[in-house]
Amino acid sequence: MNAKVLTFLAFFSIASYLFLPYYGSDLEATPNSETHKTQSQSNQCDPDIAPFYIYDLPDRFNMTLVARNCSILNPWFNMCPYFDNQGMGQPLGKPSWYNTYQFNADMLFHARTVNHPCRTYDLSSARLFYIPVYASLFVHWFEKEKNLTQREAVWVDFLDHISSLPTFQRHGGHNHFLVSGLMVWGFIRSPDQKEGESRFNDFLTFPQLANVSKLIIEHETNANAKNFFGIPYPSYFHPQLEVEITMWQEEVHHSERTHLFSFVGGTRPKEHGANKYRSAVISQCNRTESCLLVQCKYWGSVWDAVDEILGAMKRARFCLQPPGDTFTRRSIFDSILAGCVPVFFTDKTAYLQYEWYIPERREDWSVLIGPDQLDRIEEVLLQIPEKEVKRMREVIVGMIPQVTYMHPNASWPEIGFRDVVDTALVELTKRVRQIN
Ligand SMILES: *[C@@H]1O[C@H](CO)[C@@H](O)[C@H](O)[C@H]1NC(C)=O
Ligand SMILES: *[C@@H]1O[C@H](CO)[C@@H](O)[C@H](O)[C@H]1NC(C)=O
Ligand SMILES: *[C@@H]1O[C@H](CO)[C@@H](O)[C@H](O)[C@H]1NC(C)=O
Ligand SMILES: *[C@@H]1O[C@H](CO)[C@@H](O)[C@H](O)[C@H]1NC(C)=O
Ligand SMILES: *[C@@H]1O[C@H](CO)[C@@H](O)[C@H](O)[C@H]1NC(C)=O
Ligand SMILES: *[C@@H]1O[C@H](CO)[C@@H](O)[C@H](O)[C@H]1NC(C)=O
Repeated sequence: MNAKVLTFLAFFSIASYLFLPYYGSDLEATPNSETHKTQSQSNQCDPDIAPFYIYDLPDRFNMTLVARNCSILNPWFNMCPYFDNQGMGQPLGKPSWYNTYQFNADMLFHARTVNHPCRTYDLSSARLFYIPVYASLFVHWFEKEKNLTQREAVWVDFLDHISSLPTFQRHGGHNHFLVSGLMVWGFIRSPDQKEGESRFNDFLTFPQLANVSKLIIEHETNANAKNFFGIPYPSYFHPQLEVEITMWQEEVHHSERTHLFSFVGGTRPKEHGANKYRSAVISQCNRTESCLLVQCKYWGSVWDAVDEILGAMKRARFCLQPPGDTFTRRSIFDSILAGCVPVFFTDKTAYLQYEWYIPERREDWSVLIGPDQLDRIEEVLLQIPEKEVKRMREVIVGMIPQVTYMHPNASWPEIGFRDVVDTALVELTKRVRQIN
C-alpha cells in the first residue's frame, strides 16, 4: 500500500513540476491578518457575510451519497474513517481534536455551512450561491475510468445541470462558489496527454466554471489562477467554543521552545523536483542539535502521529516548510497551530496561495530562504533576533482562529471568532457586492 500511495503522489509531482512555468507575483493581495470578532452574543448573521444559498444537487451528484462509497472511492486505502464526524475523522481522545485527513477541506467547509446563520433557504434573497460538490471525491471516483469521454461524462452532466439553473445564468455564475479539498494538480490534464494516459481531469477549468469562485487548498500561481482562491488545509483542531481557541493560543504562546528549528516530513526520490529541498533540509536538520527532525515516510504514517508532529512544532521557534509533492503542505497550518514560525523556500508555498488568510507583509509572520541560502539554514535563522521571533510568533498565534475549521456543530452564540469558512464567506461577499 505504501508504494501505491507514493505512486499516487508521484503523479502530483510530475504534474506540478512539468506543467508549472516559473512565475512571479501578480495576484492582487487582499490580506486579512486580524482576528475579527463576530457578534458573539447572538445567533445573527455576520453583517460582512451576504446571505448564501446551498444548492440541492440531484442524487447522482449528491456528495453525501457519493461519500457513502468511501470504502471503494480510493484505490489505495479505505477512506471511511476519515469521513466520519462530518469529515473531521476519528476523535483523538481530547475534545475538539480529530485525526483529520488533509484533503477533506471541501467536506469540512460544507459541514460548517449547513447550520450557518447566514444561510438562506430563499433563492430570491440569496446573494451568494454555494455548489456543494466535493471535487476531490469526483477525482477519486472517476480516475479509474481510462476512457476520457466516459470519465468526464459525469462532470459534463454536472456542469450542464449547474449552468442551466436560472440563478446561475442571471450573473453568469459570478456569484457562485465551490470548494475543492484537493490541490489543482488533481485537475490538470495536459492537452497532449492521450486517451488512457492520465488519470486527471480538467474539472475545474471547464469554461462553464470560468466565473465561479473556486476555493482550493492549492492553485496555480500564474494567469490560469483566475477566480481560484487558496483556503487552508484542515489541521487537527476543530474547536466548538471561543475559550478552547484562547486556551490553546495561551498554551502555544507559552510553550517552551527548546530548539531553534524543526522539520516534519519525508525525503523524496532523486529524480523528484523537490528532492533538492528535502535533502538539504533533512541533512542540515540531522546534523545539528538545534533542530528537531520528525521523519515520515509517507502520508499514512503522518496521520497517526499528531502528538509527535505538533509536539515537535511546539518545541521549535521555526518550522521548515520545503516543497514536497506539490508546493503547498498541510504542515504550514500545523505549524501555525503550534505557534511555530514557518520557513518557506519558495513564494508558491504560501505567499501566492492564501492571500485571504495571511498578513500582507511576509516578514511579519514567516521567513523566506532563497536558493543561495539553502545550504546554510541554521546560520540564517540564528541571525534573526529573538525579539523578532517573538513578534512573529505573536502574529502566528493570532492567525490560529482564521486558519482553523471550526467544529460543524459549534453553537453560534459561543463562537467569538471567524474561522476559515467565515473568512472565505467575508471575502466572497466583498467580491459579490461589487457585482450585485
Ligand atoms: C444528499 O442526500 C442526503 C441523503 O438522502 C440528504 O439528506 C441531503 O440533503 C442531500 N444533500 C444535498 C446537498 O442534496
Ligand atoms: C456507489 O458504488 C456503487 C457500486 O460501484 C455504484 O453503483 C453507486 O452508483 C455508487 N453511488 C454513488 C452515489 O456514487
Ligand atoms: C452534529 O449534530 C448532529 C445533529 O445533532 C449529529 O447528528 C452529528 O453527529 C454531530 N456531529 C458531530 C461531529 O458531532
Ligand atoms: C470512449 O467512450 C466513448 C463514449 O462511450 C466512445 O464513443 C469512444 O469510442 C471511447 N473511446 C475509446 C478510445 O474507447
Ligand atoms: C462569464 O462572465 C462573462 C461576463 O463577465 C460572460 O460573458 C460569460 O458568458 C460568463 N460565462 C458563463 C459560463 O456564464
Ligand atoms: C543522521 O546522521 C546520522 C549520523 O551521522 C546518520 O547515521 C543518519 O543516517 C542520519 N539520518 C538522516 C535521516 O540523514
